[in-house]
Amino acid sequence: MKTVLVTGGAGYIGTHTMVELLAGGYDVVCLDNFSNSAPEAIKRVEKIAGKRVTTVIGDVRDREVMSRVFKRPIDGVIHFAALKAVGESVVRPVDYYENNVGGTLALLEAMHERKVQRLVFSSSATVYGVPEKLPLAEDAPVRPINPYGHTKAMVEQILRDWCAAGDEHAAISLRYFNPIGSHESGLIGEDPHDVPNNLFPFITQVAIGKLGKLTIWGNDWPTPDGTGVRDYLHVMDLARGHVAALERVVANGGYSAINLGTGQGVSVLQMVAAFENATSKKIPYVFGPRRSGDIAACWADASLARSLLGWEAKRSIEQACADGWRWQQQNPNGYRS
Ligand code: NAD
Ligand code: WQD
Repeated sequence: MKTVLVTGGAGYIGTHTMVELLAGGYDVVCLDNFSNSAPEAIKRVEKIAGKRVTTVIGDVRDREVMSRVFKRPIDGVIHFAALKAVGESVVRPVDYYENNVGGTLALLEAMHERKVQRLVFSSSATVYGVPEKLPLAEDAPVRPINPYGHTKAMVEQILRDWCAAGDEHAAISLRYFNPIGSHESGLIGEDPHDVPNNLFPFITQVAIGKLGKLTIWGNDWPTPDGTGVRDYLHVMDLARGHVAALERVVANGGYSAINLGTGQGVSVLQMVAAFENATSKKIPYVFGPRRSGDIAACWADASLARSLLGWEAKRSIEQACADGWRWQQQNPNGYRS
């Protein structure tokens, strides 16, 4: 495999994955409509990698754009392009189904026309909904509890059927847990456009002084210190997992869904402490009520990624905090600065 199409490549995880793909000798074509990112992000990827990225500006749902993209020799696809905010998906479900599911169908049609048969899909641990038992293994029930999670579960089913329909088709759905941090250069990172919903970018914005204090949503959860527990993995480990998945999807046909997580649960208070230790920045916080739709705890059984992909998370939470802080310090207003 030589040339990889990365849809949504200008986004948080896409940029970090493109750095790993370029380092691994792949040629990269990035398709992005910049609905939640900026062209500057791709320039930063090129600076880190010392190599060019072929960029096509457009929407994965635009059949004319997609037909143009696939005029090039594309050997495989990593599909990041999607809307990803859980709360927003409750308010705008049709947009989420149209973009996340409709966009995938348009992509598969374009792939079919050019006989591109290999796909790595960006799924999410959100497909599991409320865990029955922990750690979460891939055979746990898929029971999403919000429209965003349903879009991911639907695309997983579409890919299962797509692989069953054509013995040359091969796909892997990667169920990410909670990606955090940034590339060690501080040149690329997570760049939320509004006040962040997610914990880690909220903490870095408190640290840089953009936000006053952290509200910890609930300290009465059934967890060791009462705060929510999640499986936070360094985004560069996550990026490496995509390259491993691409190599497997080339070597093996069929369909797999694979967790990408550390296998360790970390509470909000433990994350705050880790960030303060790694950066010497104090994070003031108050306890607030539980956030609607939240679950107490969620972490991965990461054994299948080890056995099928030869992948496991290597970087520590402290490393992610140090790297994420460097990005935030160097880019107080993200790519707009
Ligand atoms: P992001 O918003 O930073 O990146 C998504 C990129 O896709 C953006 O650059 C956006 O402009 C682009 N895009 C969106 N719709 C598009 C369309 N129709 N056509 C072309 N480009 C489009 O998000 P991210 O955090 O990098 O997430 C990437 C993928 O990983 C998403 O599919 C998301 O659902 C999934 N995911 C993210 C997390 C997380 O915590 N960040 C966790 C699990 C899964
Ligand atoms: C983590 C913990 C909060 C913010 C979400 C999406 C999921 C995936 C990853 C796309 C929880 C607590 C948070 C704050 C807090 N994205 N928290 N104060 O909810 O586990 O997962 O991002 O696929 O789909 O649901 O991540 O970072 O929002 O929350 O106390 O200001 O931090 O209650 O315990 P979450 P998160």
